[in-house]
Amino acid sequence: MFFKKKKEVKRDIDLTKLPQHIGVIMDGNGRWAKKRGLPRSAGHSAGAEGLKKIVTEANNLGVKYITVYAFSTENWKRPKAEVDYLMNLLLGYLKDAERSLAGENVRIRAIGSRKELSKEIQEQIIATEKLTADRSGIVMNIALNYGGREELVHSAKQLCRRAAAGELDPESITEKDIDQGLYTAGQPDVDLLIRTSGEQRISNFMLWQISYAEMVFVDKPWPDFKPEDLHECIRIFQNRGRRFGGVDNA
Ligand code: IPE
Ligand code: IPE
Ligand code: MG
Repeated sequence: MFFKKKKEVKRDIDLTKLPQHIGVIMDGNGRWAKKRGLPRSAGHSAGAEGLKKIVTEANNLGVKYITVYAFSTENWKRPKAEVDYLMNLLLGYLKDAERSLAGENVRIRAIGSRKELSKEIQEQIIATEKLTADRSGIVMNIALNYGGREELVHSAKQLCRRAAAGELDPESITEKDIDQGLYTAGQPDVDLLIRTSGEQRISNFMLWQISYAEMVFVDKPWPDFKPEDLHECIRIFQNRGRRFGGVDNA
């Protein structure tokens, strides 16, 4: 029965018109926990657990890229105990991903600035990326110490270095050059951006890559976001008219 229901839900998604790249701002863990009288950390744990199901479902549908916002360059402002908890959770997630997402063929990558992260996390990122690099399924970018502005600075520095070395004429710089200096170089732009918890802002997420993304804001906090909600977001995406500055049926 459950299986049948699941299939029915999938049927009204057009699998030929899937978003290629989904971005997710996983927000509302703290409020989810507070409502239950639990510490914020419980919300983060529940959110990390639910994430696996969402990535698995996106992969099953045939989505090629998913980027999840796990820790922003601004999240260091939180109390040290919460930052420490989040870092530990992320370390565990990266360690565990090899086993728990093995059957799913998920390729894991971390995007963001690594040098501020602990040595242990930096090493684990390298190990997890290496272990999953040859897989053929969805690419999961974990945005960890990630900020859209920091990413643009990172790209600008690369271009300046090339210009200073005489390898690049500043007048010839194109959008493609900036794109190639991003952490997501070589990946398609985000088509569908989902933010949970009812907040309607970007909070420094993928500023360059979302320039033509369809945005879907979901009221539920992240730990309550289920595969069915992903289906609903994709259906909303598929019912939007995307014109990219042009006109319909031109
Ligand atoms: C999102 O949930 C997770 C991170 C930012 C790491 P929050 O922790 O922001 O939860 P709220 O927004 O306070 O409810
Ligand atoms: C955005 O959520 C960052 C992540 C989901 C990792 P925040 O909770 O940090 O964003 P603001 O502070 O509400 O804008
Ligand atoms: Mg929040």
